[in-house]
Amino acid sequence: MLRSLASLFFYARFVRSFSALGYRRAVGDQDSLAPDFSGQTWLVTGATGGIGRSIALQANHHGARVLAVARSQDRLKALKSEADKPGRLVPLAADLSLVDTVRQLPSKRSVQNRPIDVLVNNVGVLLNDHRVTEEGLETSFATNLLGPFVLTEELKEAGWLAADGVVINVSSGGMYGSPLKLEPMNCTDPDRFDGMNAYAMHKRALVELTRWWNGQWQGGPVAHVMHPGWVDTEGVRTSLPIFRKTLQRVLRTPEQGADTVLWLADQRPSPEPDGGIWLDRSLQPEHEFAWTRRSPHTAEDLVAYLRRMAG
Ligand SMILES: NC(=O)c1ccc[n+]([C@@H]2O[C@H](COP(=O)([O-])OP(=O)(O)OC[C@H]3O[C@@H](n4cnc5c(N)ncnc54)[C@H](OP(=O)(O)O)[C@@H]3O)[C@@H](O)[C@H]2O)c1
Repeated sequence: MLRSLASLFFYARFVRSFSALGYRRAVGDQDSLAPDFSGQTWLVTGATGGIGRSIALQANHHGARVLAVARSQDRLKALKSEADKPGRLVPLAADLSLVDTVRQLPSKRSVQNRPIDVLVNNVGVLLNDHRVTEEGLETSFATNLLGPFVLTEELKEAGWLAADGVVINVSSGGMYGSPLKLEPMNCTDPDRFDGMNAYAMHKRALVELTRWWNGQWQGGPVAHVMHPGWVDTEGVRTSLPIFRKTLQRVLRTPEQGADTVLWLADQRPSPEPDGGIWLDRSLQPEHEFAWTRRSPHTAEDLVAYLRRMAG
């Protein structure tokens, strides 16, 4: 009961800004995007699903060579066939919840073609049931946070992120409901698993990680964190069927959800990183509730924890 009330409060608090109404109000009058990404290489994770698919296809349409990462070969094939410039869409089948697999990505020939100008850490899942990867990690933790962390660190270490490039981390407004936590993020006990809480923790950690990367990467690339608002995608249909049914009429299209990623990638020079989280082309506060500021952990603790988890 308490929990339902809290959810209701949360959704009511954000419906005006996170829904399609918010998008129309914030972006509706602005110029439509006409970016030129020719000559650029992008790597987009979760590239066959709602928002990632829209990002990958639009980046390709505007001239980028896009390395598209997801698990299903069939869906990657379908994505390539939908691309305006299929020769510039490179499917890379990989399970990003597996640290070993993620570590191998930077050594792929297609990745080593030239440094990545735009890395979009878009992959993310909200799981209602408890799952553990073959490496023994809770699957949503491994997919939402550890995978993007290892991928970004490995690409940076190996020199495959362009110095004037941009890393865009796709978080979620759900992170407003969680402070930074460490151990509970990887919940391997099925009886204690709460998919929604876990997801909020992972997405909060992405915000912390973005700030930490910017502190480390003086001289480039620049990292941004954004959230897409509430978007009608397969992920939402599967994970949040009641939410989707209730708000279906005001959910965003995948293109609206992808807009801020494309807009950020088009800003040259990239906006100075200054904390905050992007929504609808403008910077929003990292915290909406005072209690989420209270965490005994720092971003440095988070990074040490992720390094430990990645082995
Ligand atoms: N939709 C929303 O309202 C909303 C709101 C806030 C934030 N977000 C965030 O936006 C991002 C995209 O969400 P979405 O709703 O567009 O997702 P989606 O429709 O569920 O699509 C997920 C994509 O990720 C891929 N994927 C899933 N697990 C993977 C894994 N282990 N390894 C590699 N690829 C994997 C899927 O393809 P395969 O299954 O073939 O791998 C698919 O391409 C996520 O980070 C999500 O948290 C979404």
